[in-house]
Amino acid sequence: MLLQADSVTRLFGAKAAVDRVTFTLDRPAFLGIIGRSGAGKSTLLRVMNRMTDATSGRILFDGTDVLALTGPARRAWQSQCALIFQQFNLVPRLDVASNVLHGILNRRSTLATMFNIWPEGDILRALSILDRLGIAEQAPKRAEALSGGQQQRVAIARALMQDPKVILADEPIASLDPMNAQIVMDTLRRIHDEDGRTVIANLHTLDTARRYCDRVIGMRDGRVVFDGTPDQLTTGAARDIYGADASFSESATSTSINALPPDTAYAEAMVRA
Ligand SMILES: Nc1ncnc2c1ncn2[C@@H]1O[C@H](COP(=O)(O)OP(=O)(O)O)[C@@H](O)[C@H]1O
Ligand SMILES: [Mg+2]
Repeated sequence: MLLQADSVTRLFGAKAAVDRVTFTLDRPAFLGIIGRSGAGKSTLLRVMNRMTDATSGRILFDGTDVLALTGPARRAWQSQCALIFQQFNLVPRLDVASNVLHGILNRRSTLATMFNIWPEGDILRALSILDRLGIAEQAPKRAEALSGGQQQRVAIARALMQDPKVILADEPIASLDPMNAQIVMDTLRRIHDEDGRTVIANLHTLDTARRYCDRVIGMRDGRVVFDGTPDQLTTGAARDIYGADASFSESATSTSINALPPDTAYAEAMVRA
């Protein structure tokens, strides 16, 4: 078993943001987590990454309960388990290459960081990751000068710098237009397919989950109310996840990524890069 979440609960006061969440992954996967706002998706990722403590439960990764780790072992898990965010969380005025190098910040001395001094091997690796993601030419620019889609790829590059086994992505495309959303999702999918890394992405739209994920977990009020393949994610199942109110419609949860041609020239160029 690669990953086993066992009755993971996180209370805020009396409210269970995450309520006895249980699921397993027996091998690396591309897992989507869907559900409406407030369902507990972000809290679950933050618990997994140890940014937030669980109230109870266990998460076994390769047999180790990562929720029980403390000190250096906890920090080691956090670098095995990179997080990327809707708002990218880059340092806006810092150049792209340095933002990527910040992925390994915790391995460095304060003084080296102050003077922005990096070993040549690390710099070359950062540049090769940027090249792989199709944004090598952006390396010297300030992060804030890039488009949202490019910034999210920089954030993915920063995560890859840690060489993580798991990438947790909290609504990675929620701030992007459909074209950039597709590029970012294609990038995450490639990282899973080519590297065998597990990707767990909170997604706010059904169509994206159906198109990219091997497996989808639906959350409602902190609980897992759906766990299955994209094929099993019927309109009826979606109603259970999002709530059965009459105003529910598929279009309300669509990014219209699917309206784009499946292979735009840009996406193709990236795959070849
Ligand atoms: N730091 C916090 N303090 C109190 N309540 C919180 C906190 N973080 C999240 N919550 C609550 O937990 C529930 C789940 O939130 P969240 O995990 O952000 O859901 P989602 O990401 O699915 O929108 C919500 O009711 C939210 O208000
Ligand atoms: Mg959230």
